[in-house]
Amino acid sequence: MSYAEDGSRLWLRGEMSKDITQKIDPNMPDDDGYRISGSTITARTEMGLLYGRYAYLRGEQGESHPFYKLRILNHWDNLDGSIERGYAGKSIFWNNRLEIDHQLIEQYAEANASIGINGTVLNNVNASPKMLTRAYINKVKEVADILRPWGIRVYLSVNFGTPKALGETKTADPLDPQVKKWWKNKAKEIYKDIPDFGGFLVKANSEGQPGPFDYGRTHADGANMLADALKPYGGIVMWRSFVYGAKHQGEDRVKQAVSEFAELDGQFRDNVILQSKNGPLDFQPREPYAPIFDQMKKTPQMAELQITQEYLGQSWHLVYLAPMWKEFFSFVKPSKLVGIAGVANIGLDKNWCGHHFSQANWYAFGRLAWNPELSSREIAEEWVKQTFDSKAEANPKLIGMMLRSREACVDYMMPLGLHHIFKFDHHMGPQPDGYIARYPIEWCPVYYHRANGDSIGVDRTHTGTNATSQYPEPYCSLYDDINTCPERYLLWFHRVPWTRRMNSGRTLWEEMQWRYNQGVREVEDYIRIWQEARQQIDEQRWKEVNDRLQRQLKDAKEWRDVCLGYFGKLQENKR
Ligand code: GCU
Repeated sequence: MSYAEDGSRLWLRGEMSKDITQKIDPNMPDDDGYRISGSTITARTEMGLLYGRYAYLRGEQGESHPFYKLRILNHWDNLDGSIERGYAGKSIFWNNRLEIDHQLIEQYAEANASIGINGTVLNNVNASPKMLTRAYINKVKEVADILRPWGIRVYLSVNFGTPKALGETKTADPLDPQVKKWWKNKAKEIYKDIPDFGGFLVKANSEGQPGPFDYGRTHADGANMLADALKPYGGIVMWRSFVYGAKHQGEDRVKQAVSEFAELDGQFRDNVILQSKNGPLDFQPREPYAPIFDQMKKTPQMAELQITQEYLGQSWHLVYLAPMWKEFFSFVKPSKLVGIAGVANIGLDKNWCGHHFSQANWYAFGRLAWNPELSSREIAEEWVKQTFDSKAEANPKLIGMMLRSREACVDYMMPLGLHHIFKFDHHMGPQPDGYIARYPIEWCPVYYHRANGDSIGVDRTHTGTNATSQYPEPYCSLYDDINTCPERYLLWFHRVPWTRRMNSGRTLWEEMQWRYNQGVREVEDYIRIWQEARQQIDEQRWKEVNDRLQRQLKDAKEWRDVCLGYFGKLQENKR
């Protein structure tokens, strides 16, 4: 993606060479794939030709087909224009004037099409009931009309309580005939305007959102009612498993999704897809994979990845996320999923994503949704090549920095399996002593590290919360035994004395200090690399990235000093 001098936004300078030959071949596999041979692009569909043209610009040759049919962005955009966990300005879709910027949405469409994204959810999962009112549906139609030629379907997040909240029914009980009828009529109304509307994304009975549980019904009752309304038009329901503090309140938070959904496996309609975050908690810099992907045997599933860096330095830190997503795919085979969703990091900022390097995460999401076999390195190389000019492309250190950046972030924030020791609410910066009595305990950092003068970590083995039992073999045994649990997950699954010897020969406490310092050293290294690259990058982007790297270093040191200070104090007080 490039950022032209006049400030306009571009993804690729997509002018096509005149010598390209394009052919439709009905004998190719039935999808939007393409074949490139020299300068001839062949595809079964018009969309395939479009994707092929971008692939040609990337320098691809040969045949390629999309791995997933559903390659969807999730925008957490509110109707007032603010964005939940958005760090790149306001919403590109919504504002109080109800005005759609056609040129901008067209650019957004092209950017997405160039990496194969073919669906987008236009509003926050914490959805306003107003989304389904006439005035807003008109706007959704307007957006859908702009996106359609680029092969992108629109979807909406819906608030489960909508008919009741709008005063159009007395209840939102999914088994109530009036409620069912309301949703059927609503689906009809939407499809009249938007015949290729994709469907609904639903966050129900989670973090205060209404849901079927409010009426003594199950998630399956709720999802099926919506699925029935969409079915005649080919629409789908993406029902989120991010649920805690409802029926299984009090249980270890990381276990609750499986507890809630496993017993419902087999009860969902065939146009319901269960959408789960990659890890069992909440988009932490590192989590083990979410065992729900193994537990649901009959229900189609999608993974939800977070492109916006809520817990990874937001738009202030250079953190390239492809290695994290590849790590997830090393545990959950891509073929187990029917689609993939990414929580978008896009806003009105001139460079779309706040940090120039955060664009690489949008890019990587699209590329992996098309082909999860691509390596993090291949994707980073493509992105650098298309984003900067040839001098930067020739600098291998830029790629090296990107590839190491996720591990570095883990090291300076939460090494060795630590998790969720973020400041309350905004999730930027450390707060290891975090505890507020009026908050649910699952929001408090102390719940996640449980450190004292002797030990640190949560016992999630068979002697503790038994979260390990939700994993199939070999992971169940591997994680359950402190001697075989990989150190990267150690404090996630085990409660460990500070004096325990680690693989390095250092004690846990020494190892922790080493890791935090290592994270800071890495960021110092990025700053050196970036200084050296000064002549290879245009002045404006060089400076903007440089400013953010300085901030990243300051933040990394804060993480190190606050966490080591706090954990060190606990041990000193003991002595
Ligand atoms: C996180 C995030 C919330 C979001 C929620 C979700 O908890 O902090 O802002 O609404 O995830 O995914 O539903």
